[in-house]
Amino acid sequence: MFRAQVRENVYLQLLEERHAAEVFSLVDRDRAYLREWLPWVDATETQDDTLSFIRSSLEQFAANKGFAAGIWSERQFCGVVGTHQLDLLNRKGEIGYWLGRAFQGRGVMTAACRVLVTHLLCEMDLNRVAIHCAKGNEKSCAVAQRLGFTEEGLVREAQLLHGRFHDLRRFGMLKKDWNPGPSRL
Ligand SMILES: CC(C)(COP(=O)(O)OP(=O)(O)OC[C@H]1O[C@@H](n2cnc3c(N)ncnc32)[C@H](O)[C@@H]1OP(=O)(O)O)[C@@H](O)C(=O)NCCC(=O)NCCS
Repeated sequence: MFRAQVRENVYLQLLEERHAAEVFSLVDRDRAYLREWLPWVDATETQDDTLSFIRSSLEQFAANKGFAAGIWSERQFCGVVGTHQLDLLNRKGEIGYWLGRAFQGRGVMTAACRVLVTHLLCEMDLNRVAIHCAKGNEKSCAVAQRLGFTEEGLVREAQLLHGRFHDLRRFGMLKKDWNPGPSRL
């Protein structure tokens, strides 16, 4: 399955069933930090839950509706980046991402998203890619800003986290404004 180099020793690879153990192990180790902004973490209780997620993303991939790719750095699994809400009729989609706590602060996610957005806008010929980040999730918003996305507004109370509705900051990138840089999928 596809694999894309992000940097020396960092690559993306389509998540497959065989990756379930390492993905679950990172989610389980970092659940206290991940659950702050990711609504699915509490529902991921066992490796089988991760396996179900991977199976459903492979089904989405087969139907050309999106996909999830793992990120490996120095051979260690360190997070996930993916696309969802692919709307081929209107040539638009969204991306989402998370990293294990210890892998933050090195620019890995910005570089991985750059490769993914280039794939979506240049290879899949989408016209628009969106990122939604909860208000207050400064690290996630900073990834969108570093990539040059334009902040387009606030989607009110669009994410339910720990019993409270959070506003989402919406960022968008258009094909005509994208600077792909050197990396390609
Ligand atoms: C959102 C998330 C992926 C951001 O991770 P991150 O490590 O801050 O993002 P990057 O990997 O792009 O790294 C950027 C950081 O590395 C630094 N950096 C070091 N080398 C860099 C390089 N070559 N290029 C870019 N940044 C670099 C940047 O200065 C920045 O650090 P700072 O925040 O101290 O300024 C991570 O915090 C996370 O997974 N959070 C929990 C889940 C989540 O919120 N997901 C998003 C839901 S919308």
